[in-house]
Formats: sequence, C-alpha cells, structure tokens
Amino acid sequence: MPVLEVKNLSVRYGAVEALRNLSLQVAEGEAITLIGPNGAGKSSTLKGIVGLERSSGKVSYQGLTLPKRNPETLAAKGLVLVPEKRELFASMEVEDNLMLGAFTRFQRREPGLRDDLERVYTLFPRLQERRKQLAGTMSGGEQQMLAIGRALMAKPKLLLLDEPSLGLAPLIVKEIFRILGQLKRQGVTLLVVEQNARIALKLADRGYVLEAGELVMEGRGEDLLHDPKVIESYLGIRAREETL
Ligand SMILES: Nc1ncnc2c1ncn2[C@@H]1O[C@H](COP(=O)(O)OP(=O)(O)OP(=O)(O)O)[C@@H](O)[C@H]1O
Ligand SMILES: [Mg+2]
Repeated sequence: MPVLEVKNLSVRYGAVEALRNLSLQVAEGEAITLIGPNGAGKSSTLKGIVGLERSSGKVSYQGLTLPKRNPETLAAKGLVLVPEKRELFASMEVEDNLMLGAFTRFQRREPGLRDDLERVYTLFPRLQERRKQLAGTMSGGEQQMLAIGRALMAKPKLLLLDEPSLGLAPLIVKEIFRILGQLKRQGVTLLVVEQNARIALKLADRGYVLEAGELVMEGRGEDLLHDPKVIESYLGIRAREETL
C-alpha cells in the first residue's frame, strides 16, 4: 500500500490550468522527486496535495482517501509540507519556531518533544548554536535548515519539500541533501520538488518530470539521471561528463 497516492490531480487558477491529471504514488520509505522547469506546476502539485490550493482528483494517505484537506490536520497525521517560501515566524527565536512545529503534539501532551528537539539540533548543529537568534535574521541556508527542522518536530512520516535548494550556495545545497539522505535512512518518506534535477535525482529512488502542468516522464532516479532527454533538458553538458 502506498503512503501517498495521487490520482488525476488538477489545479487551476482561473484560466490557467497549472496541473492536469497528475497521478503518482509514494511507497513507504521511498524518496521521490518531482522535477521540471519554472511554472511546470510543481508547487501547485504540493499545494493541491495538502489543500493549500483547490484541486480536483483524488488524494489518499496511508490508505485513506482525503476529500477535504488542510496542512494543519495533515501535519497532525504525519504528512508535513516544507513550503517554497519557508514561512518561518521571522520575529521569533529559532527554538520557538522549532517548538511551534510540534504544536499539535504539545496540545495532545505527547511526550518526548525535548528529545526530538535535541535530535533536530544533532542534525543541524547550526540551529543549536543560533537557538536564541530571531529566525528572520538567519541566512537563507540556515532558514531552510530551520524550516526542515520545524517540519521534523511534527514527527513526519511523509515529508513534502518544495525546492529545498532554492537560493542556496552549492555547498549548502549539498549539506541539505546530505541531511535529506540521512532522514530517508531513518525511515522518513520523502517527496521532494526540485529544479536542481541532478542532486534531486541522486537522492531519489524514483522521479517524475513535469512540463507545463503535465507528467512527461517517470522512472527510477538512476535511470532518469542517465536519460538523454533529461540530460539535455535538465542536467546540461556538464552533467553529461559527470554522469556518463
Ligand atoms: N495563485 C496563482 N494564481 C494564478 N496563477 C498561478 C498561481 N500560482 C501559480 N500560478 C501559475 O501556475 C503555473 C504553475 O505554477 P507553480 O508555482 O506550480 O510552478 P512551479 O513548477 O512550482 O515553478 P517554479 O519552479 O518557478 O517554482 C504557473 O504558470 C504560475 O504562474
Ligand atoms: Mg515552485
């Protein structure tokens, strides 16, 4: 049984059909990537899945069809989105941002929040160093780490990430993806939207390619990484030398 099953998902903004009939599955423990150019409908897919945008189609999570969805109730069920714009509480401290990620767990009086905070700090020592700093004053890469750390505080089973590499220097991108690999090994299922196709396909077990709102290709990450059309469109000349 897939953790997430999306059938014929479509998202429309007035006259713009951003996503047409996308179907995809994510199995437990898998890392899946969704790649494609600007405006392909990648963010719309994630927003449609969590109910941030209205959509048509069917979304099932852990075997249950969810006709009405919103990010908060899904997060409480372990399906957590790290949005493209990160959406941190800029004027609050790093640690308070992290604790807010565990808000519903706190309300349910779940034990172990302090241990989970320590685990996030182990994963991102920089956040521990800066735990009293205001989130809005953190660098771009640090903010992305904070956004992921906050999502982890919700104890996700399935983590959706919208362009975790956005605006970050190559070394930081590498670090973020190293940590995503670590989360995968710890059993977190991942659905990662990326424009940085190379690094995303290296992480992913399987990938989907979206163009202009339509699924144009899908396959194993490894196979897509060596596919001539993917190389031509998304990886460029340098990739040919690196991957062939
Ligand atoms: N709120 C909105 N209102 C109108 N059009 C929108 C809205 N959000 C997205 N769109 C349009 O839908 C299409 C898909 O947008 P989307 O953000 O899903 O693309 P994307 O693949 O995430 O692109 P990027 O890589 O640039 O983030 C684009 O043409 C975009 O202009
Ligand atoms: Mg986007």
